Amino acid sequence: MTTKLFGVTVGKMNENFTSVVLAASVFTLTVGYFSKRLLKESADRDVKYPPYIPSSIPFLGHAIAFGKSPIEFLENAYEKYGPVFSFTMVGKTFTYLLGSEAATLMFNSKNEDLNAEDVYSKLTTPVFGKGVAYDVPNPIFLEQKKILKTGLNIAHFKQHVKLIEAETIEYFKRWGDSGERDLFEALSELIILTASNCLHGKEIRSMLNEQVAQLYADLDGGFSHAAWLLPTWVPLPSFRKRDKAHREIKNIFYKVIEKRRKSGETADDILQTLIDATYKDGRPLTDDEIAGMLIGLLLAGQHTSSTTSAWMGFFLARDKALQDRCYAEQKAVCGQDLPPLDFDQLKDLNLLERCLKETLRLRPPIMTMMRMARTPQTAAGYTIPVGHQVCVSPTVNHRLHDTWVERMEFNPERYLNDNPAAGEKFAYIPFGGGRHRCIGENFAYIQIKTIWSTLLRMYEFHLVDGYFPTINYTTMIHTPHNPIIRYKRRKQ
Ligand code: HEM
Repeated sequence: MTTKLFGVTVGKMNENFTSVVLAASVFTLTVGYFSKRLLKESADRDVKYPPYIPSSIPFLGHAIAFGKSPIEFLENAYEKYGPVFSFTMVGKTFTYLLGSEAATLMFNSKNEDLNAEDVYSKLTTPVFGKGVAYDVPNPIFLEQKKILKTGLNIAHFKQHVKLIEAETIEYFKRWGDSGERDLFEALSELIILTASNCLHGKEIRSMLNEQVAQLYADLDGGFSHAAWLLPTWVPLPSFRKRDKAHREIKNIFYKVIEKRRKSGETADDILQTLIDATYKDGRPLTDDEIAGMLIGLLLAGQHTSSTTSAWMGFFLARDKALQDRCYAEQKAVCGQDLPPLDFDQLKDLNLLERCLKETLRLRPPIMTMMRMARTPQTAAGYTIPVGHQVCVSPTVNHRLHDTWVERMEFNPERYLNDNPAAGEKFAYIPFGGGRHRCIGENFAYIQIKTIWSTLLRMYEFHLVDGYFPTINYTTMIHTPHNPIIRYKRRKQ
């Protein structure tokens, strides 16, 4: 009986207890739900999004103004809105981070938060192919970059200087003693030859005839605004040419790789580095990955280096005294009789190096680096929402009033003096920063310094009737408009 009573009592107590707990839970959940909603609403009200530049043109937004003069557009926006602002173009919202401090967000971020594949792979995967660069998870691409970096070593650079000098002398034979020619076109053609020779090896270089050059041009046509805006399956003639060129170039590379593997010959070059390389888990690279990396190596340096070399030529042609000092430096460092170039002397051509550095400041070939915000990001106290394309512009950072003295002057000596920009980590970023930083910087310096050493020894350069090329903003990399230069063989 006692037990029964006890049981009933306990049962009642249990029931009461359960009801109390249930009621309390319902109350807590309800209060929780409403307070969460209230909190979220007030949090949303508290979130400060970057200032938005309004536009009255639906969908296109600021595309026309930006396309006409992107740097002017960004500089005006910086003046009006500060270092972080957003605007819309062709249905996409872009948030720019201008200046060294704001740019820190991009360079310190994780790829999972600010993602490169989301913005670049549509352009690069059809050109480089699957399994490399932005087609693979970033940790794999980082391993591929590490492998490529081991191939870009000093022993190889020493060979490259000789190869590039020989290619330059051979190529410019067609220019004769004097004339007026398209410098950008010449340097673009030369750089395919030098890059193929140095980065692909002698077998692939020896197959580089007009037909193969056309394949590279068709493949390169894949880097277009159309490819960036339209889905890759759209039957545009340029897309079809790109895809056909991709298949044919890969077939050429497969044959060379197979021949190298079968010959048992171990050459000392970058192709061999790739053939011998393994990922961290011990897996070797497949032929397809090697071929994709070879395409990537060539194209990553092609426009960047040819545009930079061409602009450098015009800066030197515009300032005859500087050009003469660069020539005098050749004699002072290498010897009065100007013997063939070598890697150690090239390193000591400091004035030439500063000219290149200054060219990369005023005309950095990559005008904007982009990432997709996959998680909300904070910069300058603003919250950048998921889905914004987050951008940093080397061109704008390289000429901000607050950072650079006489910002628009081409002055290679600024790096010798007290240079305020040196104190700001991301004021000078022609090669990017962080996990996506360029691996080709040293090769680019060697290539461009060797080409210009050779050219300065051959010719004196002048602007044609004082014309310094304006900037062509219609191409993805800002090239010189009407890049004709006047040249005359130098008397030794
Ligand atoms: C003047 C010459 C060059 C300039 C100005 C340049 C500039 C850049 C910049 C700004 C980036 C960063 C892109 C980003 O963060 O979105 C980059 C990345 C890269 N560059 Fe270069 N580059 C040059 C030459 C080269 C050459 C010659 C090679 C190869 C030999 C090369 C290979 C790469 C690679 C593999 C990346 C890594 C991309 C990533 O990790 O996302 N570049 N380059």
